[in-house]
Amino acid sequence: MGEALKGLKRTIMCGELRESHVGNKVTVMGWVQRKRNLGGLIFVDLRDRTGILQVVFGEEIDKEAFHRADTVKSEYCIAVTGSIIKRQSPNENIPTGMVELKGENIKILSESETPPIYIKENLDAAENIRLKHRYLDLRRPDMQRILMVRHKAAKAVRDFMDLNGFLEVETPMLTKSTPEGARDYLVPSRNYPGMFYALPQSPQLFKQLLMVSGFDRYFQIVKCFRDEDLRANRQPEFTQIDLEMSFVETDDVIDLNEKLIKYVFKNIIDVDVKLPIERMPYKIAMEKYGSDKPDLRFGMEIENISEVVQNSEFKVFKDSLNNGGSVRAIKAENCANMGRKQIDKLADFVKGFKAKGLAWIACKEDEIKSPIAKFLSEDEMNNIVKKMNAKVGDLILIVSDAKDKVVFQSLGQLRLHLAKELELLKDNKEFRFVWVTEFPLVSYNDEEDRWEAEHHPFTMPMDEDIPYLDTDPGRVRAKAYDIVLNGEELGGGSIRIHDTNLQQKMFEVLGFTKERAWERFGFLLEAFKFGPPPHGGLAYGFDRMIMFLAGTENIKDVIAFPKNQNAFCPLTEAPNVVDEVQINELGIATTKKEEDK
Ligand code: AMO
Ligand code: AMP
Repeated sequence: MGEALKGLKRTIMCGELRESHVGNKVTVMGWVQRKRNLGGLIFVDLRDRTGILQVVFGEEIDKEAFHRADTVKSEYCIAVTGSIIKRQSPNENIPTGMVELKGENIKILSESETPPIYIKENLDAAENIRLKHRYLDLRRPDMQRILMVRHKAAKAVRDFMDLNGFLEVETPMLTKSTPEGARDYLVPSRNYPGMFYALPQSPQLFKQLLMVSGFDRYFQIVKCFRDEDLRANRQPEFTQIDLEMSFVETDDVIDLNEKLIKYVFKNIIDVDVKLPIERMPYKIAMEKYGSDKPDLRFGMEIENISEVVQNSEFKVFKDSLNNGGSVRAIKAENCANMGRKQIDKLADFVKGFKAKGLAWIACKEDEIKSPIAKFLSEDEMNNIVKKMNAKVGDLILIVSDAKDKVVFQSLGQLRLHLAKELELLKDNKEFRFVWVTEFPLVSYNDEEDRWEAEHHPFTMPMDEDIPYLDTDPGRVRAKAYDIVLNGEELGGGSIRIHDTNLQQKMFEVLGFTKERAWERFGFLLEAFKFGPPPHGGLAYGFDRMIMFLAGTENIKDVIAFPKNQNAFCPLTEAPNVVDEVQINELGIATTKKEEDK
């Protein structure tokens, strides 16, 4: 049975103790990491949030304490009082390693069963067990460190935003569908049976309304909800640093955000981000890296070799070019000796991105080897090698397709895949930022046969492209920008439309009837009748930012209580059934039978 504190006060945290404390009488409280009984002496490693302290109990020190210490086991919660002494055999590996606590009194505050997971750094346990016992998983020092980084980063953001005149304003969680393109989480309403609130995918419309209200500079560290397929960097509920500014153009938003990024990275991990951050138009990012979130930490850029092979008789290339597509390639340095099997695997890889094949040219010492050599003239082969600037030992990998999108995606992904296989980034500690700008305003959804907003419907077109809104919407570029770090989208934003007519036109392009546009976004269109200021903003994925700051590749590591890959919480077992009464009150019925659940 656990003992009560009965007035006993903790005087210091375990991890704070140093040689300067030698001779001090202290009381510490925490969890037993490990206990060793060496006969006359018992050593207990005591752990709290700040670190580990060695406590020694001996019959000579205090007989009663010694015997009680002998009954503790791992993860018992205890309080120990005693004097700090210099350690005879210091442990250089921990900050408190020069000292130990002479245990003169011990209280067992509560006992612990044998924990289902081992509490130690870099634990390699099944994820579901970790998530089911998350409170134990979170006792691990590495997990605690990450949540401390998260806390410090949130504080740094708030400090910076406050210094720069931003107000944090909360926006509703029970609201109407927001247009970020994912599926909504819905909450049934009791007051209005058959009606639903939507949880916000972002505070987009509210922050724009706050600009209409004259708040001038708004920010919020805010939960967002998106019911989409989960990946290593996505969660159904996640956090944004959301911000919006009035009377600004693109450069103003970018400028402020660069300072914010610099401030956070300096304060949290002492990394100096060099300003200004490079900017790259979307078109270039696609052409050179096959991605709107290019990883610039390595080269292997995509080259267009269409011109070199434009007169080629090779049917594959000819068909692609005649149908408005292109032939492009990347160069894998020193890979000419890659085996046939390995190259076939690469071909399978690009087929996963809809490429129909992968041609290759290996520049060997005394010959050029290629399965397409028989289809091309010697000149054409040599010209490809020249265009690719390939040396002896290099391997050229080629994709052609009638759709540029397919060529870009497959080569862009192949580039990343090869970088991983060839370990090009193994010891790379770089933080390579880039702004991707001039995104297309809309893109064509072939399946639904309509234009859809690339960012969201409130994004301002670039001034010089507005005339094409009617004639050639696909050509219109947006005043939108993404901040990309090491090939990940860290955040995105845009300058917004603040003119009702232009906003109506945008809805028309997107195929909304006037009625439907008013039905969904009428409150914003109405607000825009009352002197809306020019405005724009951005939102970061805060969890993703923490992943970089804490150096982890799994978004679950930076969230205290995350969902698993199936959007399920193994700890609370949410989602779950509810009482029939609750269902009835809400005026809804489910078509799933009890046994299906
Ligand atoms: P966007 O939809 O690009 O923009 O979202 C902004 C950033 O949020 C992060 N993010 C996610 N992080 C974790 N899990 C998810 N499921 C998830 N989805 C998005 C990404 C992304 O860059 N309202 C606009 C912003 C604006 O225009 O100001 C918006 O939400 O890092
Ligand atoms: P085939 O004549 O179809 O056997 O193709 C000859 C070579 O061209 C093989 O190495 C194929 O992988 C390659 N290939 C086929 N389709 C494409 C394509 N769309 N782009 C690049 N290479 C291709």
